Amino acid sequence: MRGLRAAGWDVVGVARRAGRLEALDAEVGSASFAADLTSETDVEALAAHLADTGPVHALVHVAGGARGADRIEDGSPEDWRWMFEVNVLSAQLVTAALLPLLRDAAASDGHADTLFVTSTAAQTAYAGGAGYNAAKAGESMLVHALRLELGGEPIRVSEVAPGMVHTPEFTLNRLGGDVSAAEKVYEDVADPLTAADVADVIVYALSAPGHVNLDLVTLRPVAQSAQHQLARGALRPRGH
Ligand SMILES: NC(=O)c1ccc[n+]([C@@H]2O[C@H](COP(=O)([O-])OP(=O)(O)OC[C@H]3O[C@@H](n4cnc5c(N)ncnc54)[C@H](OP(=O)(O)O)[C@@H]3O)[C@@H](O)[C@H]2O)c1
Repeated sequence: MRGLRAAGWDVVGVARRAGRLEALDAEVGSASFAADLTSETDVEALAAHLADTGPVHALVHVAGGARGADRIEDGSPEDWRWMFEVNVLSAQLVTAALLPLLRDAAASDGHADTLFVTSTAAQTAYAGGAGYNAAKAGESMLVHALRLELGGEPIRVSEVAPGMVHTPEFTLNRLGGDVSAAEKVYEDVADPLTAADVADVIVYALSAPGHVNLDLVTLRPVAQSAQHQLARGALRPRGH
């Protein structure tokens, strides 16, 4: 939201915790709407609110997350259900609800955008990651299908897939609030991505000329050569 506001966008932030949204609104001049994007009722209310206050030129779907790091045989159905709901179901609900508004904006202004933040977990499985791998891969497949379904319409469909991003709550939520386990994940990793790094890509995707569709941008910290290969300690050129 900070990046888009700095680039001149009017932004409506959506999340469940109204207090955090209001603080951000005060800081960056955004507007907000508190909603649970896994709830059909909330998403309908969001769409009605945006229809009254729009136009809506872009949908950036960021809500998502991981719960648990268990092997498949030990996985909690509740965690898996949550991951499918927040990463996949919410993407479907919000896309379906906002497409009429995006089409209106595209009709009057030339084009509109949809952009989804998936993950490198959508591309490569890792032990203990299956629920999140499957949910993010599901969200990624929604993006692929949406681009085909919107063929012939001036609506861009983009996917941004980050590797390790050091945000305050993602790993904490995944590991059930265990602060020291969450800190260990990032321990001695030279410069994990930040939320601002991901935001830069989102801002670029939405600001590129209207005929340019960034299908998929994968970004990771240099220290993370692959989902399963993470260097800890300072990065040094060989021989130095
Ligand atoms: N951190 C990483 O390493 C990483 C890497 C790759 C991809 N990603 C993806 O990037 C996205 C953002 O992750 P993050 O690291 O910023 O995690 P985060 O700090 O946990 O942020 C998740 C955001 O989604 C909102 N949210 C969660 N459930 C929601 C719901 N049901 N309805 C509406 N909003 C909801 C949360 O706000 P409320 O709790 O107030 O609703 C919060 O703003 C996620 O899709 C994640 O899967 C993260």
